[in-house]
Amino acid sequence: MSGNGRKLKFHIFRFDPQQPGDKPRMQTYEVEEAPGMTIFIALNDIRAKHDTSLQFDFVCRAGICGSCGMVINGRPTLACRTLTSKFPNGEISLLPLPAFELIGDLSVNTGKFMRIMTERIEGWIHANGEKVNLDSLEERMDPDRADEIYELDRCVECGCCVSACATKRMRDEFLSAVGFMKIARFEMDPRDKRTDREYYNILGNDQGVFGCMTLLGCEDTCPKDLPHQNRIAYLRRKMLGAARKVAASAPARIGSP
Ligand code: FES
Repeated sequence: MSGNGRKLKFHIFRFDPQQPGDKPRMQTYEVEEAPGMTIFIALNDIRAKHDTSLQFDFVCRAGICGSCGMVINGRPTLACRTLTSKFPNGEISLLPLPAFELIGDLSVNTGKFMRIMTERIEGWIHANGEKVNLDSLEERMDPDRADEIYELDRCVECGCCVSACATKRMRDEFLSAVGFMKIARFEMDPRDKRTDREYYNILGNDQGVFGCMTLLGCEDTCPKDLPHQNRIAYLRRKMLGAARKVAASAPARIGSP
């Protein structure tokens, strides 16, 4: 266990886009390590003792809210779940998550991305006009199916998978693993009455599942160990089936055999 009072060196990205004339730079701070110290605790220490202007996000400090995602020694992950003892040489670099709008220093606007993504995939139950009777008992669901949905619902929308995705760097509109995980969650929910064809209209293109190059960045970095590649492969197969049905139902072209 750490706590030997070693000195940690933090190299932290600093830039405030709101400040006219400010330029991106790396700034170094020294912190005395404490037992069980996380990156989040160290950042609070730096802000309290060295620099009150340092910007970074957190809410829950327990890996639940997804606010504290950042790139730690080159890897997107959660600051509140990362122990400083993981870094034997005591040198730690911190950068904001790429692929999101920078608010300042280590703080990015993941909320804007998540909102646009949720609207695009219509990330809510589509009951096809069935009115909900508030006096009725809750609809029953097979417990195994409920467990499967809950497994995918563990996504905390931290944005680590988006930042680790090379396809997203090349295709700005790429839905990304977090979007696919949400779709997979609704596709599996028996209360959602959307057809494969309706999902195909959202997913069946290069900005959707067919654009994924299977580089596994999402799978490697997800702090919740969600089965991204398994779900993406499932959706891709489903969407191929939907594409075949669309093609079969299209009227034959004049001159085609
Ligand atoms: S502060 Fe909530 S996940 Fe880290």
